[in-house]
Amino acid sequence: MANTILVGAQWGDEGKGKIIDVLTESADIVVRTQGGNNAGHTVFIGKTKYVLHLIPSGILRPGKKCVIGNGVVIDPVSLVGEIDGLLKARVKVNGNLFISETAHLVLPYHRELDEQREILKGKNKIGTTKRGIGPAYGDKAARTGLRVIDLINPARFEQLLKIRIKENNEVLKAFGAKPISFSKVHAAYRAAGDRLRPFVTNTVVMLDQAARRGADILFEGAQGTFLDIDHGTYPFVTSSNTTAGGACTGSGVAPNRMDSVVGVMKAYTTRVGEGPLPTENAEIADMLHAMGREFGATTGRARRCGWFDSVATRHAAMVNGIDELAVTNLDGLDTLETIKVCVGYRIGTTRYDYVPNDVETLAKCEPIYAEFPGWLQSTHKARKWKDLPAKARSYLKAIAELTGAKLTIASVGPAREETIFL
Ligand code: GDP
Ligand code: IMO
Ligand code: MG
Repeated sequence: MANTILVGAQWGDEGKGKIIDVLTESADIVVRTQGGNNAGHTVFIGKTKYVLHLIPSGILRPGKKCVIGNGVVIDPVSLVGEIDGLLKARVKVNGNLFISETAHLVLPYHRELDEQREILKGKNKIGTTKRGIGPAYGDKAARTGLRVIDLINPARFEQLLKIRIKENNEVLKAFGAKPISFSKVHAAYRAAGDRLRPFVTNTVVMLDQAARRGADILFEGAQGTFLDIDHGTYPFVTSSNTTAGGACTGSGVAPNRMDSVVGVMKAYTTRVGEGPLPTENAEIADMLHAMGREFGATTGRARRCGWFDSVATRHAAMVNGIDELAVTNLDGLDTLETIKVCVGYRIGTTRYDYVPNDVETLAKCEPIYAEFPGWLQSTHKARKWKDLPAKARSYLKAIAELTGAKLTIASVGPAREETIFL
């Protein structure tokens, strides 16, 4: 499989977890390189549902090595909870999970600040997952963050944590929020640190050695292109580089070792949280929610839904260098008579064929639609390209062509076997 970067080509929740699980079969190592437990990646194995937040989805395939890279922000208490959940489900973690020494920590004051800033923003809130992601990356950039390497050094951790809690309690006081107790946080984080210590290593050196041996490495993106801190709909974004470049900086694996980029996208569009979504459509949202679909894997919030937006996915192909496309949730469109696809944006008489940078401009954009006839039959049982209705094949071909990348996977259900390789 060589070294493959997998990214979300839309606003997150494209079905990355499912596709990672499918592709892990031919990988040796799976690496998370950015984000934190704001991610929720769903994998079905048989009828059992797993939702991974920090641990790469590859952990569910026996014998595969999984790495949490330096670019990830880790809430250690939450990570221990996730490890325990997997152990309870009899998934082998020991010997398969590796955690970067230099990944930054999410601390309780980050979560509290995340919440307080959202309250202060009022109707302009971002709609974050309240996992403390923005404040944790903020501390990393301000060089006031604590890292895994500090957590497993008891004397240093105690000293640094004291200073950080003192300063952050002053900020929390200004918000009118409750101060954080040093002793409680210290005890909980030290206990988590002791649990995590056996997994902690220099993952950059480990990945370099693996790459030299010819191992196939799969980089598991979290969130999606339009949540990228640089290329997304700022400020309605997350705080990391969710695009392909983040896989290099967040793992220490150099760009010239990367072989290909797979973009995952739904056959329609969803977004959870605030910010512009040009093709948003209440009827599709109602239809998908009535089917019990499109509720957030991390926060349970109903996702906003809309038609497929090829202006956005073409932009994603550009900033990620997408070579191959995996289209998921094709089956979500099975009951529609007519399916719309956004092929351009318009404000008055001005046409946009790219995603404008100013969110206020983007919010004013009206989609220009092309219409496709629906196939009006179930696609769930299709396992080969020729099993799909001709109209579904035409639709898939059209959205891949509009995006400007090669379609290699179509997904017609959440399970491993509900996958068509082209
Ligand atoms: P991720 O964050 O990109 O991994 O995506 P999520 O797991 O948050 O959300 C994707 C949802 O779609 C999950 O509930 C998956 O089980 C589900 N899913 C993925 N692919 C398909 C598909 O082809 N068909 C159906 N019906 N569900 C899918
Ligand atoms: P996966 O990996 C969808 C969204 C939040 C909010 C914005 C900022 O499952 O695709 P944050 O908590 O990161 O500061 O929130 O980003 N968001 C996601 N939306 N899928 C995700 O992850 C997301 N992670 C963050 O809803 O709009
Ligand atoms: Mg998700």
